[in-house]
Amino acid sequence: MTIRNLDDLLAEGVSGRRVLVRADLNVPLDKQTGEITDDGRIRAVLPTLSALVQAGAKVVVCSHLGRPKGAPDPQFSLRPVAGRLGELLGAPVHFAEDTVGDSARSTVAALADGQVALLENLRFNKGETSKDDAERGTFADQLAALGDSYVDDAFGAVHRKHASVHDVPARLPHFAGRLVLREVEVLSRLTGEPERPYVVVLGGSKVSDKLAVIEALLPTVDRLLIGGGMCFTFLKAQGHEVGTSLLEKDMVETCRNLMERAPGKIMLPVDVVAADAFAPDAAHDTVPADGIPSHRLGLDIGPETVAGFAAVLSQAKTIFWNGPMGVFEMAAFANGTRGVAEAITKADAFSVVGGGDSAAAVRALGLDESSFGHISTGGGASLEYLEGKTLPGIAALEN
Ligand code: 3PG
Ligand code: MG
Repeated sequence: MTIRNLDDLLAEGVSGRRVLVRADLNVPLDKQTGEITDDGRIRAVLPTLSALVQAGAKVVVCSHLGRPKGAPDPQFSLRPVAGRLGELLGAPVHFAEDTVGDSARSTVAALADGQVALLENLRFNKGETSKDDAERGTFADQLAALGDSYVDDAFGAVHRKHASVHDVPARLPHFAGRLVLREVEVLSRLTGEPERPYVVVLGGSKVSDKLAVIEALLPTVDRLLIGGGMCFTFLKAQGHEVGTSLLEKDMVETCRNLMERAPGKIMLPVDVVAADAFAPDAAHDTVPADGIPSHRLGLDIGPETVAGFAAVLSQAKTIFWNGPMGVFEMAAFANGTRGVAEAITKADAFSVVGGGDSAAAVRALGLDESSFGHISTGGGASLEYLEGKTLPGIAALEN
């Protein structure tokens, strides 16, 4: 099955044609000021949008932001994103006050060749995320009416069976954008025959979120390094007490089985930074992983663990990293994530950072993005890809 991509569309000629682009402009906003705190996802879609602008298309961009409940909700408006997108493109972005209503239709109708419009949040409409095929279909009909062809560049949303991702491409000639193409190329290198040693670093808070990907990766990887909140359930499975650390009791047995199934492959912290409370200024010490005091909770991996992980990473030829090693948003608990991230950049390996929090951590810690092989814009999407699941957004482009 071949997926047609943006170059195929450009070869057909798009001047004066309306191109509906599904982007993932779901960027983090500051809770107080509403300002965009990380515009990585906006920048990631610029190559596709610029190419369409240069080719004289009327570019109609749509996206979700956050998880509004199927009705307009001002805190999830895409308006600030339109402003930032315009700055980055160097041309105004015409913002529609709704997604498929009067404002959207008139905004799109008024576009000149090479101009860009952004529609209001897709998830202000119940049809976008509906489980009911007909309800999604009705919304997809309305969206599809705003374009002559469709480009999916929303890699972060390809794992969602949503109208704009799954149903619109059934209604319009459809193409993968530059970002989606690159993401799939990179991730397929990991699922194909990665150069070895292939080392995966997983963090984040919950084992249950990562279980499917651990199951899928365990037979393929050479080493699996585990940090973040989820490491405490593994430490518990090893027989250690974890104080008041994050613990998924019902996953302990599962973790034990995983470790038994692949002896020596899973590497856990040997020391952790344990604190009195979940707070930036909480009293804290580095303690051995088997000596976490009963009243304390682990908020980061310790320096000995970082050194051990770094030694393994320095030998790797392929690395995939998803999930922070600790509460990197608090300076006292950021060293684990920083240390592991730096070890990844130093390794002579093809490295992929898997979206979401880890990508944000790379930028928040001021690390050089270009020293990683690839930083994915999809957290959930890249994990589901590695799990080998069929992604509704990719499948829709194949048909
Ligand atoms: C993400 O941030 O993970 C993507 O934009 C998808 O958003 P969702 O998890 O709310 O579907
Ligand atoms: Mg998500």
